[in-house]
Amino acid sequence: MADKYLDDFFALLRFASVSTDDKYKKDVDACANWLVQKLNGIGLTTQLVPTAGHPIVWAQNKHKPGRRTVLIYGHYDVQPPDPLELWDSPPFEPVLKDGYVFARGATDNKGQILSHILGMQETMKEDVDLPVNLHLVIEGEEEIGSNNLPTFLQKNRDALKCDIVVVSDTGMIAPGMPTISYGLRGVTALEIKVTGPKIDLHSGIYGGAVANPLAAMSKMLATLHDRDGHIAIEGFYDQVLPLENWEREMWRKLPIDVEAELRKESGAPELFGEKGFSSLERIWARPTAEINGMGGGYQGQGTKTVLPSYGFAKLTFRLVPNQDGDAIVDLAKKHLQKNCPPGVTLEMQSGHSGPWYLTDPHSKFGEAAQRALKKAFGKEAALIREGGSIPIVSAFREILNAETLLLGLALPNCRAHSPNENFPLENFEAGRRMNKAVLAEIAA
Ligand code: BES
Ligand code: MN
Repeated sequence: MADKYLDDFFALLRFASVSTDDKYKKDVDACANWLVQKLNGIGLTTQLVPTAGHPIVWAQNKHKPGRRTVLIYGHYDVQPPDPLELWDSPPFEPVLKDGYVFARGATDNKGQILSHILGMQETMKEDVDLPVNLHLVIEGEEEIGSNNLPTFLQKNRDALKCDIVVVSDTGMIAPGMPTISYGLRGVTALEIKVTGPKIDLHSGIYGGAVANPLAAMSKMLATLHDRDGHIAIEGFYDQVLPLENWEREMWRKLPIDVEAELRKESGAPELFGEKGFSSLERIWARPTAEINGMGGGYQGQGTKTVLPSYGFAKLTFRLVPNQDGDAIVDLAKKHLQKNCPPGVTLEMQSGHSGPWYLTDPHSKFGEAAQRALKKAFGKEAALIREGGSIPIVSAFREILNAETLLLGLALPNCRAHSPNENFPLENFEAGRRMNKAVLAEIAA
């Protein structure tokens, strides 16, 4: 492989473009600027669009009448690298080991979006132009909910008019197995705080006569699920679209050992989930209620006999068609309030939220994508849904009136959001082939 490609990849990975923490703001901006330079360098006209948050990189070729218009979307922001001590090499000092590049963002999403860029670089070198009119939109806030991207889409709605959106920010079921995701889960967040006494108290002097907020919170949170893994919030499943038989059948036949893979990658002692569904169904087509973090009381070494003043928990719900995020948060709030034990007060604050997405893999462009993947990988594409969320995809539909092809390059062992995130060169290369094939098929 041309060393130049790897140089570009490493340069992009060296920016600590963590979107959630202000201390990385300089790196975020520098990363966006590097992309502008890179894209101008390959012959696209590129602008850095400021937003209320991190800037958006927007590049175009010269549009010609009579050609299809494609919007390729990706993100240059990354998740925080913590916990640092679990990395084998520093997260922002990329290394190549046994064919895999290790760094934060290697898969999610720098490797994937860069392979599109380099594919287009090759095409423009060989053919002078792309076969389509292109919009390339690379944002810096995907990992924090894409809050400012809808405004950008709205403002530039006419300019951004396109036939189809292409996104590579999802999974591949196995190495060498091309994969189209025709669905994503949504996500919505809720934070709770359970307060008892006005200060931390001596648990000998007060304990027994004043409610313990952490005990109360534990009790409350324990009511979220029943023992079969169903969510016990009243009405939670009312809008859930049942899985279609063709999907269940198709997923059952996928040539992968899902249970073994999940056991291995998670390291959990055993798998557990909602009764009556396979692991794939649980992740791709069923909603969840997760506790992402909780705190309160004494966290230091040893014992402290204290009755804490408060406890807090951070929850998110993954949503599936046709659940509505706001309605789900309302139901959850009602449920928690109803199950709040006496002696404490409960405060709740909803957070970011993004809708699910479901599209038809057999649409005209869905078929084009399937042909392109067959050409790039020499194999029929697997058609799957995803458990993760890319909230902006539903905004492409709502604001731009365009469907999205999710052509993922993330392997099951990519460690996205975890220590030792990695991306294989094999996929970096396949991504370039895929980009060429998909633009050619869409143009046809
Ligand atoms: N690339 C992921 C989304 C993803 C993950 C798709 C796994 C398919 C499989 C994306 O960058 C991401 O992590 N999104 C967040 C969105 C959230 C912060 C609103 C997610 O899913 O948690
Ligand atoms: Mn991510």
